[in-house]
Amino acid sequence: MAVRFDKNTKTFTLHTKKSTYQMKTDDQGVLLHTYFGSPTDESDLSYLIVPEDHGFCAQPAGNGGNRTYSLDYYPQEYPVHGTGDFRVTALKAGIEGQVPALDLRYQSHQIREGKYTLAGLPAFFAREDDRAETLEIILKDVYQEIYVRLLYGVLEEKNIITRAAVIENREERPLEIKRVMSMALDFMGGQKDLISFGGKHAGERQFERRALGSGITEIASMRGTSSHQQNPFVILCDRDTTEEHGGCWGVSFLYSGSFRIQAEVDQFEDVRVVCGIHDEEFSWILPGGGEFVVPEVALSYTDDGFSDLTMGLQRAMHKNLIRSPWKDRERPVLVNNWEATYFDFSGSKLLEIAEKGAKIDLDMLVLDDGWFGKREDDNSGLGDWFVNEEKLGCTLKELVDQINELGLQFGIWIEPEMVSEDSELYRTHPDWALVIPGRDPVRGRNQLVLDLSRREVVEFMKRSIDRLLTSANIAYVKWDMNRSVDNVFSSANPQLSQGAVRHRYVLGLYEVMEHVVTTYPELLLEGCSGGGGRYDAGMLYYVPQIWCSDNTDAIERLRIHYGTSFGYPMSTVSAHVSVCPNHQNGRVTPFKTRGICAMQGAFGYELDLGKLTDQEMEEAREQTKLYHQHGQLFQQGDYYRLTSPMENREFTAWSYVMPDGSKASLSVVYTDVHANPRPLRVKWKGLQRDGIYELEGREYTGAALMQGGMVLPKPRCNYDSCMFVIEKKK
Ligand code: DGJ
Repeated sequence: MAVRFDKNTKTFTLHTKKSTYQMKTDDQGVLLHTYFGSPTDESDLSYLIVPEDHGFCAQPAGNGGNRTYSLDYYPQEYPVHGTGDFRVTALKAGIEGQVPALDLRYQSHQIREGKYTLAGLPAFFAREDDRAETLEIILKDVYQEIYVRLLYGVLEEKNIITRAAVIENREERPLEIKRVMSMALDFMGGQKDLISFGGKHAGERQFERRALGSGITEIASMRGTSSHQQNPFVILCDRDTTEEHGGCWGVSFLYSGSFRIQAEVDQFEDVRVVCGIHDEEFSWILPGGGEFVVPEVALSYTDDGFSDLTMGLQRAMHKNLIRSPWKDRERPVLVNNWEATYFDFSGSKLLEIAEKGAKIDLDMLVLDDGWFGKREDDNSGLGDWFVNEEKLGCTLKELVDQINELGLQFGIWIEPEMVSEDSELYRTHPDWALVIPGRDPVRGRNQLVLDLSRREVVEFMKRSIDRLLTSANIAYVKWDMNRSVDNVFSSANPQLSQGAVRHRYVLGLYEVMEHVVTTYPELLLEGCSGGGGRYDAGMLYYVPQIWCSDNTDAIERLRIHYGTSFGYPMSTVSAHVSVCPNHQNGRVTPFKTRGICAMQGAFGYELDLGKLTDQEMEEAREQTKLYHQHGQLFQQGDYYRLTSPMENREFTAWSYVMPDGSKASLSVVYTDVHANPRPLRVKWKGLQRDGIYELEGREYTGAALMQGGMVLPKPRCNYDSCMFVIEKKK
């Protein structure tokens, strides 16, 4: 039993393979949080809470004047605004027109087999072979018919505890929800570090570790998407935790809109972390009898350092979050025409690229932006999802058939959430764009955002995509989204607050994506938002891979991939070889290094194959062969970070290892070469200790390669690279 309730102590203890999580209903009916960490037994750990009469710490209603009890420092499971708790809270709500205040107490609970689901929202799921349980705890406001159903999903073997909630208004009058977080997590004592993954467009998910000091540290996005600038995944850890050792907690929010993660160190040095929809960009009027479903957050803990934590998360996301059948299939090696041609292409140019691609055994050609409406640059055309046959010189079907005849599959780019002011769609439905009446709209990349809170817009998007996908043999879609969402106003619902429209936008987006993945289950759908601007666990419920960054420079990608690997499976990282000088930063790197770096994920090319030299074409053919040969290892293997590009200036190394240690690869990119160099060594990980592996014509035991390591070849130039693949011989 993963979930245990002790009726004597009124404790709920949740066990996973590597963690224990505990809550307790106290004498006053308040649900306290007593523990989340290394596996322990079901002992009631509430003795760790020290009742004390602390100055300026108020008492909640009905506690009989006991000044040693205050929710201002007691650790709680779902702290609410209005109980004298002045830390960041999980819920701020009240009947419309009244002062927002709630006082939630335990009412009942239920433990059931299997993992709960959430209507219209992404959520981890249990597979048949999973031991999974759901705990539902119902809290009720002391004064009104306002209920909160806290949901816990325990995937015991996967070391995952998910949390979500449903807010129920059984009053007649509407409830105004001003803030609703998916979780609060209180830690009693202990100094903690916070690791986050901030960045920018073309520089996403940069690893950053900081010590939490008193006050609030915040990781957030108010951009309507999870964003390039911050990511809804963080790690909390003990001060001495490393890749290999120490306690760490992963918090991953399954939501693709604005989010807020706050970590507060309070006056007694306790830490509270909350995570949920960003409340400054949120408000919701819940009518009498209505329910509001709070998105899911996934938690994981291990004693064994970041590698163990993130590998566990990656495996769980692969098995229990990503639904696409492509997660277990080798991904096609593709060529995308974006950096090859940008908007300047014709049907014959595409066929020329496809012919070259066929020569080096590529699997697919992807037609990027510019094939529809009037779209010769980024000023026009979005929303007009009909093919520009004049530009292609034929119908889409004719083009796709010719590409298929060359032996390549066909993929296509769309950006369905957007509209250009210079488009048929905008001229017909100007009110479908999110703009504030009477103001010049805030534009991003010269485009406006469609109002996905409106049913007719959601239906239009479904229809447009259906028409496209049934018009030709399309095997892959790259779903892009190229601006942040601002000045949100829905002409159809002028009474709706900006916050409500923003959340409805995300729900509308998920509805369209659900339509696509269920109607076209074989389609390979790739997420994208100007690269990795919407790289979050919510998206992975719909797409098995995401264009990781618009930055295709192999060296900058080392840091981007490094950061991404903490929160997401590397099989979800889409990465391409592009030309040099690189279009984003002008850097020149060897073709080989670009290939090795891009093979960290779903591999492809993003260049004009017609402009490659014969030698580069030969290298591309070899790379494609290598990727096909070891595709299973790159897609299904465990990913090990062997060095940190944030710390090691000389080289970055990573490795893929089949979970049973039977096969492994190790890749190295040299990032700073020296004259008269010292020997560079690196240690393999994840091999079988007693296994015998052949490396460069010599036999080694797994123990030797892991404990002693290997000596790396000397680099011949800066940004040189190497890659080794070994198999267990016995
Ligand atoms: C942004 C994407 O990240 C690029 O790969 C490309 O598809 C462009 N949009 C096209 O507009």
